Amino acid sequence: MTVLDFARRKQAGEPIVMITAYDALFAGLVDAAGVDAILVGDSVATALGGEETTLSATVEQMIYHGRMVRRGARRALVVVDMPFMSYQVSAEDAVRNGGRILKETGAGAVKLEGGAEVAPAVEALVTAGVPVMGHLGFTPQAVHQLGGPRQQARDHSALETLIRDARALEKAGAFAVVLSTMPGRIAQKVTHVLAIPTIGFGAGPLCDGQVLVLTDMLGLSGGDGAAGAKRYAELGAEVREAVARYAQEVRGGP
Ligand code: KIV
Repeated sequence: MTVLDFARRKQAGEPIVMITAYDALFAGLVDAAGVDAILVGDSVATALGGEETTLSATVEQMIYHGRMVRRGARRALVVVDMPFMSYQVSAEDAVRNGGRILKETGAGAVKLEGGAEVAPAVEALVTAGVPVMGHLGFTPQAVHQLGGPRQQARDHSALETLIRDARALEKAGAFAVVLSTMPGRIAQKVTHVLAIPTIGFGAGPLCDGQVLVLTDMLGLSGGDGAAGAKRYAELGAEVREAVARYAQEVRGGP
């Protein structure tokens, strides 16, 4: 799966399946399950690292997790998140950090958050040969500015801004864009005006693809990453039960 396949999928009307993973073990499992793309999200900081927000993730950490995921993935496109402050200061920073991420992980693309304001960074990355996925709507790196994880783009003027941002990312060369935590009808309108595919995260069923946070959909986290995100398993409960049974056996003696 390459970034070119993303465009073909949209043209053919074939949905794109994306999921996060943070290590080789789970990357191998989700790849074998047939996903199209694996996102090494900076959600690693919250999903595995116990942090409140994604802001603490570093380029080194994303490279570490990206390498592991790349080793586990055979077919899926691996996309690595650019962490907070690795691309916001300047386009030069973006190219330096995005280039390192691609070079040192073997991933096929990076993802970064924001709209028209990050278009120069996206353009510089794409010009340097680094494919970029955008991310609009609720952008966790702006959590403090957005007043917490909440639905975005709820009115008509927000839709106009969203479309302007999405078009700026597309014009800058992004190959796809995540639409996060917004009403389905809004995501549908953005999907309709873009030539590049949209990947929904808590944005209704009418995007060109969907992404879920692995630990949420497997029931491994207490939280619920995207508003109303569906859980496909309750592995957290299974792990607790298995380990409690083991402890009971050990304490019960031979
Ligand atoms: O970091 C992440 O997991 C993400 C998803 C929420 C799309 O950006």
